[in-house]
Amino acid sequence: MRLDIVSIFPEYFAPLDVSLIGKARERGTLDVHVHQLRDWAHDVHKTVDDTPYGGGPGMVMKPEVWGEAIDTVIAAGPQGPDGGLPRMIVPTPSGRPFSQELAQELAGEPWLLFACGRYEGIDSRVMAEYSSRLRVDEVSIGDYVLAGGEVAVLVMVEAVGRLLPGVLGNAQSAVDDSFAPGSMQNLVEGPVYTKPPVWRGHEVPAVLLSGHHGNVARWRRDEAIRRTVRNRPELAAAIDPATLDKHDRKLLEELSFRLQPEDMAN
Ligand code: ADE
Repeated sequence: MRLDIVSIFPEYFAPLDVSLIGKARERGTLDVHVHQLRDWAHDVHKTVDDTPYGGGPGMVMKPEVWGEAIDTVIAAGPQGPDGGLPRMIVPTPSGRPFSQELAQELAGEPWLLFACGRYEGIDSRVMAEYSSRLRVDEVSIGDYVLAGGEVAVLVMVEAVGRLLPGVLGNAQSAVDDSFAPGSMQNLVEGPVYTKPPVWRGHEVPAVLLSGHHGNVARWRRDEAIRRTVRNRPELAAAIDPATLDKHDRKLLEELSFRLQPEDMAN
């Protein structure tokens, strides 16, 4: 997968040299190109922003600079000027929510272009202009406001990168993730333990030492349900009742977590 990232702070992306993503780059699974937006600003001050039309606080990123930057990145892309085009991602707190499902979808793309806004954002005509040529998504990583899109891009690149073939040592790790599609959908993962069996008086739950795979699986599911109800009640409320067995329903009742009465009848 090729990744192009345009930002006024390329230094933010130094972490992409380390760990899983760094190794994926060394192996050639990920081909990352980070660009300085100011390289496409032509005045002596390398200006990339201006005051907003309509007034108000803050500054807006100029469309001409972004247009030249994106045109150049696209033209220098892997498939040549007439070849494939990247999917463009613009991080912004007003975008569609980033999720494991979107990460999976992006992991299937051959080429992603991230356009990092700062200040009050990028002039909206930039997204309008490229929407006629590329798939453009404005994406938010959560309901809080960062100083710019750089950290959001790091988050997305890590979430997408670890899903690429061969990036995780153990392919099952991604399958077992919280939020991964499959049987544990709508449940977050429960607690995990390693050796020693007793640490500062805290014992590892005996079932995990029992070697009984069925009991271990049941315990893990119970713990996932408990944690989901405690930490993510809105996820628990969205559990498809058809995915719950008798034991699950009993546990939810013990936790005083009420499913809709008609669902309990199923
Ligand atoms: N830029 C600033 N805040 C952001 C957020 N929450 N998600 C994505 N990009 C952002």
